[in-house]
Amino acid sequence: MKQLFRTIAITFMLCVAASPSFSQTGKTGTYPPIDSDAVEQFGGPEGVRNWVEGLFYYIMLDNRINHVFREFGNIERQIYLNTQLVQLVLGGDVEYQGASMAAAHADLGITLTQFNAVVEAAYNSCERIQLTYEACNQLIAGLAPYKHAIVTR
Ligand code: HEM
Repeated sequence: MKQLFRTIAITFMLCVAASPSFSQTGKTGTYPPIDSDAVEQFGGPEGVRNWVEGLFYYIMLDNRINHVFREFGNIERQIYLNTQLVQLVLGGDVEYQGASMAAAHADLGITLTQFNAVVEAAYNSCERIQLTYEACNQLIAGLAPYKHAIVTR
């Protein structure tokens, strides 16, 4: 059942990613649109930060990708900036102070497999904080369009 749900969600994500209606930063165009109270569904900005911390917890446990973050990343900075970015994607009124997704990942040669490993960590973080499937899927769908800017190999 869980597997089926994930397959549906990933298929949905790929459809959304194929849509031209997205921007580098800011709320991305998803269908159906992201709820106006999406940040609240995460428990507000603090809940979003908690989710991002979980995301990095699972990323750093995953040997397929943790070496990239160890070598090129700065976890504290990335948690800070991803907390801003996630709120923005969910429609929150925040300023994102980091680099564009294309600029931040340009030199990393990221593969689709590595991107999907981060998506897996994202789902695990949702489960860790017992987020509803609806709230989690909205975020995954909102982040999916960045795939084009992040995956370069
Ligand atoms: C939807 C997926 C992703 C999002 C939303 C995301 C978001 C971000 C953000 C906000 C930054 C900080 C930019 C800055 O420092 O100004 C960043 C940097 C970084 N990301 Fe990602 N990222 C994603 C996928 C990935 C993947 C798949 C990898 C590698 C497997 C990765 C590796 C890194 C690394 C190593 C940095 C630090 C780059 C540097 O400081 O030069 N990211 N990412």
